[in-house]
Amino acid sequence: MITAESHQTQSTSGPFRTTLTQHILSQQGERFTERLASLLTQIGVAAKQISSQVRRAGIIEVWGQTGEVNVQGEEVQKLDMIANTTFIEVLKRSGCVVALASEEEDDWISVSGVEDGYFVAFDPLDGSSNIEVSTSIGTIFGIYHCSEHPKSTQDLLRPGREMVGAGYVIYGSSTVFVYADQERVDCFTLDPSYGEFLLSRPNLKLPTTLTTVSVNEYNQPYWPQWMCEAIDELKSRNQEKRIITGRHIGSLVADFHRNLIKGGVYYYPVDRNNKRGKLRLLYECNPLAFIAQAAGGADTWGNGSVLDLVPSELHQRVGFFVGVSEGVKHIENHYTE
Ligand code: AHG
Ligand code: MN
Ligand code: MN
Repeated sequence: MITAESHQTQSTSGPFRTTLTQHILSQQGERFTERLASLLTQIGVAAKQISSQVRRAGIIEVWGQTGEVNVQGEEVQKLDMIANTTFIEVLKRSGCVVALASEEEDDWISVSGVEDGYFVAFDPLDGSSNIEVSTSIGTIFGIYHCSEHPKSTQDLLRPGREMVGAGYVIYGSSTVFVYADQERVDCFTLDPSYGEFLLSRPNLKLPTTLTTVSVNEYNQPYWPQWMCEAIDELKSRNQEKRIITGRHIGSLVADFHRNLIKGGVYYYPVDRNNKRGKLRLLYECNPLAFIAQAAGGADTWGNGSVLDLVPSELHQRVGFFVGVSEGVKHIENHYTE
């Protein structure tokens, strides 16, 4: 008799690589409840739909602005809207979501028909200023379990520490899907020939050596003194030979992904133009902080992880530093109020 042990095997090479769905199903009950497994599968579906729109952006007239300004005070791009609508419509139909909150929506969305389910906070398209120049952009999401249907915004203002999982999708030279729970981080790559996400980097860990710093240095005139000193100190490490380099795409999610693989940190401090910070706690910082910690890295807002902050509003912004622990600790050593 031939026994099939392969249902346990996570394959990242050869013709039979593990698909996202197989990966989720193989760990259902251990890492994923039936509902969470179903939610992740549906996020994978939304990701494929958004990816196909992004890939055709130059052809099907979805470049450019809608003419609207969102709740963040930013110009809304057509692809921001397409990604937002796609994510909402797919997740509303998933049967496992009770509430959604999006960077592009003024208020949270209540989804009826489900009692015990998930609240998903998301940035439908991060790095949207890069759409027109065909550079990497992405979707970021964080997942919270709700044992009963939320009644008010207050019920959704929970610290990121309470997330059960978080992830992102990058529409770059390939489309990748990264998902983390407290235990591990896995990366899947979309095979466009048959439209499946295949396990490409299992159990990702952040390197421990700091090799890359991602920061918009042209904000330096607005930085607090301690931030200028922190960056100067990093640069001074290169006197003899270059041990740290700068890489800044301007899409947080893409900068984060490169840093996760190569060993870097991303910095966006509170500054004179962004007095409360530029990045959004619920949609951007919490999910990426969660993933960084699951991969053995760290994050801070200056004096502690953003995951411990209790949000006072859905669209709250915060100073944010994330990636290799050494680069995060470096900020905490310099940070002053
Ligand atoms: P979004 O496109 O979702 O509004 O986010 C943009 C964010 C982030 O992706 C990026 O790293 C950062 O804003 C860039 O800000 P600056 O242009 O101020 O450097
Ligand atoms: Mn963003
Ligand atoms: Mn966005």
